[in-house]
Formats: sequence, C-alpha cells, structure tokens
Amino acid sequence: MKLLIIGVGGFIGSNLVKYLTERGEHEIVGIDITDDKLRGISGPNFTYIDADITAAPELADKLISECDVVVDLIAYANPSIYVKSPLDVVRLNFFENIRIAEMCMKHGKRLFQYSTSEVYGKSGHTGAYNEDHTDLIMGPSTKQRWIYASGKQYLERIIHAHGLRGDIEYTIVRPFNFVGPRFDYLVQAETLGGPRVFAHFMSALITGGPMYLVDGGNQRRSFTHIDDASAAFTTLIDNPAAINQIYNIGNPETDTSIRDLATYMMSLYEEITGVEPRNELIEISGEEFYGKGYEDMDRVPPDISKLQALGWQPIRDKRKTFSDAIEYNLDPEVHASIL
Ligand code: UGA
Repeated sequence: MKLLIIGVGGFIGSNLVKYLTERGEHEIVGIDITDDKLRGISGPNFTYIDADITAAPELADKLISECDVVVDLIAYANPSIYVKSPLDVVRLNFFENIRIAEMCMKHGKRLFQYSTSEVYGKSGHTGAYNEDHTDLIMGPSTKQRWIYASGKQYLERIIHAHGLRGDIEYTIVRPFNFVGPRFDYLVQAETLGGPRVFAHFMSALITGGPMYLVDGGNQRRSFTHIDDASAAFTTLIDNPAAINQIYNIGNPETDTSIRDLATYMMSLYEEITGVEPRNELIEISGEEFYGKGYEDMDRVPPDISKLQALGWQPIRDKRKTFSDAIEYNLDPEVHASIL
C-alpha cells in the first residue's frame, strides 16, 4: 500500500516510519516542515518531502491523488499551546485537517485520522472510556484549553457524517498518552507549561530541576509505548473491519497518578544510571503552570476491547515504556541543549 503520512516529522510519525521501514512494510511518502526526529531513519520504501502543507495546497492535492491511504498527523498536541494560542490550534488542528479530509474525498482516498483521547473530556464518567458509547464532556468556552478537544471532536463528527453518506472511507484513532523515543522536546530547569508531562519530568531528571505537580498531581493517565501504538496502526490499516470506525489506542495496565509517575521515573532513572535523583516535587496550580484558561481531566482510562477484538494487544509494560523513553533521552546528543 502507498501511504502518505502528513506530519511525519513529529513524535508519532517518526516512530511510525521507523517501525514500518524496519519491517519493510508499505511504501511511504512523508511530508513535514522538519525532519529532525527522522534523523537516522531511512529505508528504500521511505521518501521524505520537506514542505509546509498549509502553504502548498496544490502539492497536498497532488500527493493525496498519488497515494492509497492518507495518514493525517498534523496537530499541535500540547496543552500549553491550547491555552496560549487557541486560534492557531483550531486553525491547524481543525481547518487544515478538514481540508485534508476534503481532498481525500475528492480523490476517493482512505483517511487514517489521528484524533485524541482528550475528546472524552472532563471527569463525570464512570468506567473505562469506550469509543462508541462514552459521552464527550467539554468544559466551558471561557476555558480555552477545550478548543483543541472540541475541534478534534467536531473533526471526528464531520468525517463520520461523510462516512455515513458514503463520501469517504476512514479510520479514526484516539491516542492515550503515547510515550517513547523522540517524544516532544526537553526544556531548561524550572520551565513552566512547556511540553507534555514525560518531557517535563525527564528534563528535571537531567537538569536536577524541580518536578512540578499541577494541581497536586492526583490526576491519572495511562501511558502507551509508542511501538505498541505503531503496531496498532498496522493492525488497523490491514483490516477492512476498521473502515469507518473509531478506535482507542491505549494501555490500561499503566494507569498511574501524575504524582506517582514522578517518583516512578525517579526510581527508574536511578536504576538505569546509578545516580540518585534529588528533584524537588513542587505543587503548582494549573493557572500558574499553563496560564489562565487551563482545565484538566481527572482520569483518562481507555477501553481497548474494540482494538483487542482485531488481534492487537499492548505488549510493553509500564517499566519498558518508561525505560525506553528515559534511555533515549540519556544520549548526550539528545539532551546537550538543555544543560
Ligand atoms: C495531552 C494532549 O492534550 C492530549 O490531546 C493527548 O491525547 C495527550 O496529551 C497524549 O499524550 O495522548 P495530557 O494528558 O493532559 O493531554 O498531557 P500532559 O501535558 O502530558 O499532562 C498530563 C498531566 O500531567 C496533566 O494533568 C498535567 O496537568 C500534568 N502535568 C504536566 C504535571 O503535573 N506536571 C508537568 O510538568 C506537566
């Protein structure tokens, strides 16, 4: 199959290409504005195009016309950006994605759309979150953090409506906190509201700076090894049953509070490096850390039975998930810029 991966240079895209090229699966054309994370990843079945798809719609149209499946990964995915630049978020994550979906319809191409676990929204649910039954609960419009999740939700609903009308074949996935090599970016000690939590805590381990626990750190997340996520992609892309369906990609076994994640990463870091971390854990309000307009999800537990029914299973446990991600960041070439 010939895949066009839009946004290939990010965390998910670069790991997906690595996974597929190592296995010689599919012919891949990838496009992005940066290939930093693709360094060292190559294969006869992979071509990288350095271009900004938002500024080159004709190129996007041409590339889409030439592939079999479009994999759409373009998005800002950090809460700090939703709070500080909500209009940029909706412009890229909603309007640009709609444009890609429309091009897929024009050329009759299947769309593999990355959405987010954040569409489930705030607490108020019981049990694990199911793709086809759980309500999607957004906070008030004055809390602009939700512009991202509501944009993704609307995107899903529009793609689904086109699917109902027979305009498009699609698969939508909702990632649950993927973690691994090439994740986000590291930051200087004491930076507030930068990347996502793993990158903040990892930066603290390297610099010796504090680990910030937003609003006490009792909120919970479950984390998914990026290679399990890539394996989920191959399960779905190869299975006709996945057409016009939505899937969670998550690992319920890794569920943890953010406070426990901080101490877990400290103990794992000590095991791996032999150096005892002495990071201070500091509680901080969401508003102070991210800015006004932040709200959080208390818990984000995935129901993965729908994807398991297709034969996929997350096989990397919490220890493997975080040790692979930590070890990658111990490379001086990766972390030199923050010291
Ligand atoms: C983000 C995106 O908004 C989601 O769309 C995406 O699906 C998700 O990441 C993901 O990676 O799958 P979130 O889980 O809130 O959502 O991302 P993080 O920034 O990693 O935050 C996780 C939790 O840690 C939040 O409660 C946050 O307040 C907290 N946090 C973050 C800290 O306590 N300290 C930090 O230094 C950073």
